[in-house]
Amino acid sequence: MSRPASNGSTAPDPGSSELNPLFARPGEAYDLPKFRFPAGEALPETAYQVVHDEAMLDGNARLNLATFVSTWMDEHADRLYLEAADKNMIDKDEYPRTAEIETRCWTMLADLWHAPDPRHTIGTSTIGSSEACMLGGLALKRRWQKARRAAGRPTDRPNLIMSSAVQVCWEKFCNYFDVEPRYVPISEDHKVLDGHGLEDYVDENTIGVVAIMGVTYTGMYEPVAKIAQALDAIEQRTGLNIPIHVDGASGGMIAPFIQPELEWDFRVDRVASISTSGHKYGLVYPGIGWVVWREQAALPEELIFEVSYLGGQMPTLALNFSRPGAQVLLQYYMFLRLGFDGYRRVQANSRDVARYLADQVAAMGPFDLWNDGSDIPVFAWRLRADHADKWNLYDLSDRLRMKGWLVPAYPMPDDLTDVTVQRIVVRNGLSHDLADAFLEDMRAEVAYLDRLDGPLPHESDRPTAFHH
Ligand SMILES: Cc1ncc(COP(=O)(O)O)c(C=O)c1O
Repeated sequence: MSRPASNGSTAPDPGSSELNPLFARPGEAYDLPKFRFPAGEALPETAYQVVHDEAMLDGNARLNLATFVSTWMDEHADRLYLEAADKNMIDKDEYPRTAEIETRCWTMLADLWHAPDPRHTIGTSTIGSSEACMLGGLALKRRWQKARRAAGRPTDRPNLIMSSAVQVCWEKFCNYFDVEPRYVPISEDHKVLDGHGLEDYVDENTIGVVAIMGVTYTGMYEPVAKIAQALDAIEQRTGLNIPIHVDGASGGMIAPFIQPELEWDFRVDRVASISTSGHKYGLVYPGIGWVVWREQAALPEELIFEVSYLGGQMPTLALNFSRPGAQVLLQYYMFLRLGFDGYRRVQANSRDVARYLADQVAAMGPFDLWNDGSDIPVFAWRLRADHADKWNLYDLSDRLRMKGWLVPAYPMPDDLTDVTVQRIVVRNGLSHDLADAFLEDMRAEVAYLDRLDGPLPHESDRPTAFHH
């Protein structure tokens, strides 16, 4: 709010929100502080306008080519969302139909992912893939501990094997739950975890291997069946039976529809559990993930709590307690609305747009594709060494941002930290038309950068790691 300063001029107070002069009715809030509680009430319209105006400054979600998360649903979904905004997922006794729908959803996923007996396995919704991965990881850890205890062996040094390109949720899991992370570095020859050299990482303390269907950095699939074969060979030699958790944050909702022949799911015997984000290619607004186990025995029952204070005796398997129930209903809506064929068409369309964009980016000249968007509809590219004299991918990212497009550039993880890539995530809503508009802007910005007479000055504090 502008206030008269001591010299009579008006100066903005950085600690308050400035209100449009139209807000001048009697009873209207005059001063809404930013960092402490306002002393009194504001009219709802005033508070709404202040929040609305500030949120307006966020980026345009449709031009955000960085995120995997849904930014659009249809108006029926919006209506359902509003109707269900008050439902707490944990109140399963009060909202038994929402609880039933949750069970139907993960059972549908168990079926989609070829669980041997979908109606008699176990799964749950979560707030996103991170929580789902942590539950998958906890089940691996507990199963290993139980087996070790039964064999009279120590249980104090569990380790988990994964690619150096895992999403940060796995680093968190290891940190929060005292598991040693064993990262297998990626390289030009092994761009993803593919089972190569796995025997150097596995030992009797290994609780499992994480395989990612849709690596965050590039969108590439890790070959789950090949990783399983490497583990089979290790088992033959050592007797160690190591299970796999598939992090299908994105690919869990892509592969079944557009690469149905690819065996990455419960068809691979070693896969004990699979997680996905309902809010990525599950096509629901942020706030929903899923995890499903191959069979009930894969989830130690001590991880399930029975609580009585919700009314009735209710099982709960989750890291947090309360969370929105609306997203579960939205997921069910999407499953019913699209069915298998609808999902197939939506995902195939995103894949076609990604492949088209990748071809066009490759044809521009300065770039080498890292991958071409044919796994999940995500691809990355790097700048050719013979084109890196005046500008880099961070400069291009900045130039594109000036046109509203968010296209991140970042270094790859170990052992490729000297490689910088730029990535596009194609989601439902990025049409061929929008893709053409983007390409036009990108070509113009590349031409602008190429016309510079000398190299652009660079800051030294570019990011050294990337997680999304
Ligand atoms: C492979 C992978 N795993 C896990 C996550 C975490 O997902 P969420 O944001 O749903 O917690 C992501 C997010 O991008 C991811 O790409």
